[in-house]
Amino acid sequence: MSEQAKPKILIVDDEQHVLNSLFRTLRRDFEVFLALNGRAGLEILREQEVAAILADQRMPEMSGVEFFSAARTLQPGAVRVLITGYADIEVAVRAINEGQVFHYLNKPWEPEDLRIIMQRAAEHYRLVRENQRLLRELEIANQQLTGENRVLKQEIEKHYHFEQVIGRSPAMLKVIELVKKIIPTDTTVLLQGETGTGKELIARAIHYNGPRQKKLFATQNCAALPDTLLESELFGHKKGAFTDASADKKGLFALADGGTVFLDEIGDTSPAMQQRLLRVLQEGEIRPLGSTATIRVDVRIISASNRDLYAAVRRGEFREDLFYRLNVFPITLPPLRERREDIPLLANHFVRKYAMRMGKRIGGISAEAMTILVRRDYPGNVRELENIIERAVVLADPGDEIKAESLQAEALAPVAWSGAEPVSTSGTPSGTLKETTAALEKQLIVQTLEKTKGNISQAANLLGLSRLGLYKKIDRLGVKIKR
Ligand SMILES: Nc1ncnc2c1ncn2[C@@H]1O[C@H](COP(=O)(O)OP(=O)(O)OP(=O)(O)O)[C@@H](O)[C@H]1O
Ligand SMILES: [Mg+2]
Repeated sequence: MSEQAKPKILIVDDEQHVLNSLFRTLRRDFEVFLALNGRAGLEILREQEVAAILADQRMPEMSGVEFFSAARTLQPGAVRVLITGYADIEVAVRAINEGQVFHYLNKPWEPEDLRIIMQRAAEHYRLVRENQRLLRELEIANQQLTGENRVLKQEIEKHYHFEQVIGRSPAMLKVIELVKKIIPTDTTVLLQGETGTGKELIARAIHYNGPRQKKLFATQNCAALPDTLLESELFGHKKGAFTDASADKKGLFALADGGTVFLDEIGDTSPAMQQRLLRVLQEGEIRPLGSTATIRVDVRIISASNRDLYAAVRRGEFREDLFYRLNVFPITLPPLRERREDIPLLANHFVRKYAMRMGKRIGGISAEAMTILVRRDYPGNVRELENIIERAVVLADPGDEIKAESLQAEALAPVAWSGAEPVSTSGTPSGTLKETTAALEKQLIVQTLEKTKGNISQAANLLGLSRLGLYKKIDRLGVKIKR
């Protein structure tokens, strides 16, 4: 036991001389508090935090066990030791079984036994406390690491993955011009456009080219989380604000102070969340869940929606006042079908990107393949084109160009996936195990791709595969599109 502070203990016994002798035995090792009955004992517990309590079972007003159950509500952590006479054994054993008592000590007791029992009790208390403290520290350290991780990841992203915005169509040139104008400002931006048109790419470009680039770009998909979690992600929480909140947590708005918060899929927020966001935008202050204090933050807000947000306002699904706060500077990204002239540029850009990433030399795209690419439809817009090229680069022979055949991954259109006959898992399956497994795999892949609307990354994630792994399976299993 450490030299500095002796552990505190409380002793309750109705006989003064017993109390005295207990005190003499224990005072060398402990700071001892004494009480002649349960009531007085509880008084002491209201003021002193003790490591252990020693109480006699036989006391006139309140028995030892009764006293313990009251003491427990005041100091649940204190280790309880009962002094018993011969006739109390049954009570003592029951109390131990019910968790009321840590140990019992029979009369007459040996001073040395008593000292050891109480030392053990205090040590137990210290270890439990230390354990709790370490757990808390670990949790706080984890949170800090998560925050730092985010910053580091972002740094890496900035160096290696910072993508250019590609496009020379009039529609894209207009977008790029708008982006250049707002980069040096703090203006709130609303990005709209169909899925895969490059909203997040533009949001990053605004942040990483502007005066806030040294601070965090924090992105949050507002559709991905239930309200309480979303609120805690964005605004943080105090320890105990809800069941799982075991330590304080900083929210994205606070982490991104001086930087940018990207609110993705803003159209999917609940009315309650919309109201909270409105308050943040109006006041420039956030209040962590469970906290009474507000924090001033300086963040630039960029939000995005792939649904027409104003239409949602008219339908009464999105708050009009919030819409106007977000829509200070609207930018709408045109769908790829309205800028087909960008397709060759984008396609070549993605070939270079994936060839480099896979360490493969690719001699461009054949004329025939390019014609197919320019003509086809892209409901998934640029992301869909990117997926097709990534797959084609996987399939291409090293040194060769991208050929039309490797695009018969027409398969990648997000509608009407096919190629899998429904496989019945009940009854007697026909075919070899290998055939049946392949058919099942195919069916599962098709279903997953349907679910993710052709988004390969998401599908790979759901299936527990890498993107490359999924592409290989798609190819091997012959997943195709019905036209
Ligand atoms: N103009 C462009 N130049 C280069 N790459 C682009 C361009 N537009 C989009 N991309 C790429 O296409 C992919 C999809 O873009 P992004 O994630 O920004 O789309 P989004 O509009 O946010 O889609 P969603 O609404 O589905 O979230 C990304 O990998 C992005 O880098
Ligand atoms: Mg996006």
